[in-house]
Amino acid sequence: MLSVLFLGDIVGQPGRGAVIARLPELKTKYALDFIIVNGENAAGGRGITGKITIDLLRAGVSVITSGDHIWDQKEILSFIDTEPRLLRPLNYPDGTPGTGSIILETSKGKIGVINVQARTFMQPILDNPFRAVQGAVTKMRSETPNIIVDAHGETTSEKIALGRFLDGKVSAVIGTHTHVQTADEQIFPGGTAFLCDAGMCGPVNSILGRAVEPIMNRFISNLPASFPVAGGEVRLRGALIEIDEMTGRALSIRRVDEPGPSASAASDQEAKIDIENAPSSEQT
Ligand SMILES: [Fe+2]
Ligand SMILES: [Fe+2]
Repeated sequence: MLSVLFLGDIVGQPGRGAVIARLPELKTKYALDFIIVNGENAAGGRGITGKITIDLLRAGVSVITSGDHIWDQKEILSFIDTEPRLLRPLNYPDGTPGTGSIILETSKGKIGVINVQARTFMQPILDNPFRAVQGAVTKMRSETPNIIVDAHGETTSEKIALGRFLDGKVSAVIGTHTHVQTADEQIFPGGTAFLCDAGMCGPVNSILGRAVEPIMNRFISNLPASFPVAGGEVRLRGALIEIDEMTGRALSIRRVDEPGPSASAASDQEAKIDIENAPSSEQT
């Protein structure tokens, strides 16, 4: 049996600090064989840097997925081809830097990860995610039946459609991007585990990881403003999936909602928030 932990969008220093601090313990607690995190908001809420990528991989992360914020830190354009374990959405046009899928060896066999971006209410509008993921899955299944898909999208319907479309072809489809964990974890009839959104790894006293007041005022006033990453209590949210590695079928899926590191460690993190990269008006 393969135990896979999938953690949702990491938001800023509070999120990545908590993931790095808690991963060794979570690895033991859940007897993890493989860890996937979505890192698209890991750098001050906007994108990810090369250094953060390396820090997460060194902490024990197996693969980092992303989404619409992948290019927010411009340095990632030149970095991404140096680190195949950092994925960008698969359905960018040919010639885009980076890759949208990877297969890695574990002691229990190969695991494939695919990152695809939905289109409804998403920018940029990428190639048809269904067609793109179908091609990638067919190719990947010639090497391994153990495949996890990060479906990065805004609407529940499009993510459920992607999950149903891939039922019986992959081990799990886990949604990201909304930063709000859904409660619909299930195993579809064909054996594919599904969760519409993993939620986020970040400060919970927030609006999607950002400080409450500036975001609230933006909705009220419609004026541009800065949206710093919030401080305070951090939670790590995602899903734990158990897979029969001989067939690739999911045996179980459960939601994960873990506390961040201890209160004293958390206050150290808060002190660093002010020097984060300048936030943008974008959200997830
Ligand atoms: Fe996103
Ligand atoms: Fe996000």
